[in-house]
Amino acid sequence: MSKSAHNLETFFDVERYRKDFPALHQEVHGKPLAYLDNAATAQKPQQVIDAISNYYSNHNSNVHRGVHTLSGRATDLYEGSREKIAKYINAKSTKEIIFTKGATEALNLLAYSFGEHAISAGDEIIVSGMEHHSNLVPWQLLCQRKNAILKILPITKKGELDLALLPELISDKTKLISVVHTSNALGTVNPIEDIINIAHTQNIPVAIDGSQALPHTAVDMQALDADFFIFTGHKMFGPTGVGVLYGKEAWLEKLPPYQGGGDMIRTVSYTHSEYNDLPYKFEAGTPNIAGVIGLGAAVDYIQNIGIHNIQAYETELLNYATEKALAFDGLNIIGQAEHKSGVLSFTIDGVHPHDIGTIVDFEGVAIRTGHHCAMPVMNFFNVPATARASFAFYNTFSEVDALFVALEKTKDMLF
Ligand code: ALA
Repeated sequence: MSKSAHNLETFFDVERYRKDFPALHQEVHGKPLAYLDNAATAQKPQQVIDAISNYYSNHNSNVHRGVHTLSGRATDLYEGSREKIAKYINAKSTKEIIFTKGATEALNLLAYSFGEHAISAGDEIIVSGMEHHSNLVPWQLLCQRKNAILKILPITKKGELDLALLPELISDKTKLISVVHTSNALGTVNPIEDIINIAHTQNIPVAIDGSQALPHTAVDMQALDADFFIFTGHKMFGPTGVGVLYGKEAWLEKLPPYQGGGDMIRTVSYTHSEYNDLPYKFEAGTPNIAGVIGLGAAVDYIQNIGIHNIQAYETELLNYATEKALAFDGLNIIGQAEHKSGVLSFTIDGVHPHDIGTIVDFEGVAIRTGHHCAMPVMNFFNVPATARASFAFYNTFSEVDALFVALEKTKDMLF
């Protein structure tokens, strides 16, 4: 381990935070677990586990529906999470925070409701060439339904968006630009502020998929001025099955509901239903109450550490891993953008990524291999898959060392 890395680890006190994550303290195949698959899902601190358990143990009840005490408590906890999240991302109002079952549902909701409101035959939607399937397929479905056109902002060999091409893609038919903030497959942090500025000069709304960004960087909805912003809970130390669609209130007021059912209505008759106010108009049915409460606890947890501390530490961790990767014979880093966050995607000459993942697992190192739900990105780089180490603030420099020792063993075993 380098001296500066060691100093930083001491400064950040990673060991103190690691204690909060029970799943980190185990052996896999007789080796200490090095969990480097945080872009797939992050581990959960005890505080999040306790918040969920506390809800089920002491307050379990449905929200917005009962006059009884437990329902009141459940509602307070659920709505309390909405307030925390609104404040954390600096939304103007809790009306702008819609709970969904994840980023995928949030994007499907947006594609459906925005599509019904704003898209007609011949209209155009722009996404980028580094989207997760969840910010691509819902727009394809919409375009098929409405006979609209999906345009792709290309990426460069470094794995950055070719932003100079954006003005050429925009036409008077462009109705929305939807791009990823940080790529889960490459780690690229995109210049979303610039994209929003370019789009807004032509009155085009912008949606940002922030799923891979939220656990690693601060976001401020009012400063950013995105029209929609989507993220998932499970990558930011919260539970699975919960996510958020942020939308500017004026937009959400205009969009029709995505799903019908309980809680999203004010009155119902056989001929007509009057919809509920925001944000409930978009939250049909009994929500993932425990999940939302757990996500609120995750936000508290991140705030206690400080997202800027997290970002500074993870940057050093990624730099350290990148240095080692560059020095590793036969390793190719896929995605070498100027601005990256927490992801090291790579191939090794002559070794299938799945074999890398399987062999390093025997050394206790958990990484993801595959297309990372971003097949067009793999096609662009002409690889079937990559191996991907993805970091969280609880990872250590020693775990990065363990990865590279395991990769050396992989090579020894296969050559
Ligand atoms: N989208 C998740 C990943 O990047 C599942 O692995």
